[in-house]
Amino acid sequence: MNMDHYCVMGNPVAHSQSPWIHARFAELTGQTLHYGRRLVAADGFADAVRAFAAEGGKGCNVTVPFKFEAPALAQHASERVLLAQAANTLSFSPEGIVADNTDGIGLVQDIRANAGFDLRGRQVLLIGAGGAAAGVLGPLILAQPTGITVANRTTSKARALVERHTPLAMLHRVALQTSALDTVPGAFDLVVNATISSLSGASSPVSASALKPETLVYDMMYGPAAQPFLNWARAHGAQARDGLGMLVEQAAEAFSLWRGVRPASAQVLAELRQRLAA
Ligand code: ATR
Repeated sequence: MNMDHYCVMGNPVAHSQSPWIHARFAELTGQTLHYGRRLVAADGFADAVRAFAAEGGKGCNVTVPFKFEAPALAQHASERVLLAQAANTLSFSPEGIVADNTDGIGLVQDIRANAGFDLRGRQVLLIGAGGAAAGVLGPLILAQPTGITVANRTTSKARALVERHTPLAMLHRVALQTSALDTVPGAFDLVVNATISSLSGASSPVSASALKPETLVYDMMYGPAAQPFLNWARAHGAQARDGLGMLVEQAAEAFSLWRGVRPASAQVLAELRQRLAA
């Protein structure tokens, strides 16, 4: 390979925006690289990663359903991978495969930099306790809100997730608690939906008593899948934001890890919004 190659591996992967995002980052930073996509068979992830590394690939992003398999392939993993128990970014180095997870920092960066919302001193509700929620709880703690409540349909999963993050939360003086969906305590400054309940047509997994007029309501999905929840938020007077910025910001963090240079992510987010609206 005469230029550095990267790709996104997933199943499905045809509609991934990552190749376009990384190509734009490369143009804007003057980097020469190729970023492709690889559709990987359900039982073929480890082989696909090893094959790409053997071909001289420099690294890959990992998406559904392989994020949970990715850490086991790595010789080195970041703290955020250990907390999330999942990885979305692999780097191939002479010392082996390095695993990282940029999803959570992508969410925090989009909320902080693109939405202009300061998390410090705020009360946060994280709805869900699956892979998507696990990927963001650590970086949400590091952003130092006053408290984070994790609410999930299956409360035992919320408790396990919170337990794993308790040392980090104590270190950063963030109060962590769990809740059932129908007994969410009080109203929040930020509400993040990390469930897939919208896919079954439900509007919101929690009641509107979780909202205040100035609450920022965030769905980690984008496009039609995010709309029921965001429409519900708007109908109750809250600010609504989809996860497109998170997608671009997690990519920007991966690009920085690989290339050592930060792309103009806000510009690429604006361009991607226009592209998807067209
Ligand atoms: P992901 O990796 O996308 O997070 P997941 O690990 O299957 O996928 O987690 C899906 C999340 O959506 C879980 O929090 C799940 O709740 P349970 O842990 O109780 O299964 C939540 N979820 C899925 N369907 C839901 C629904 N109809 N109402 C509320 N929560 C739902």
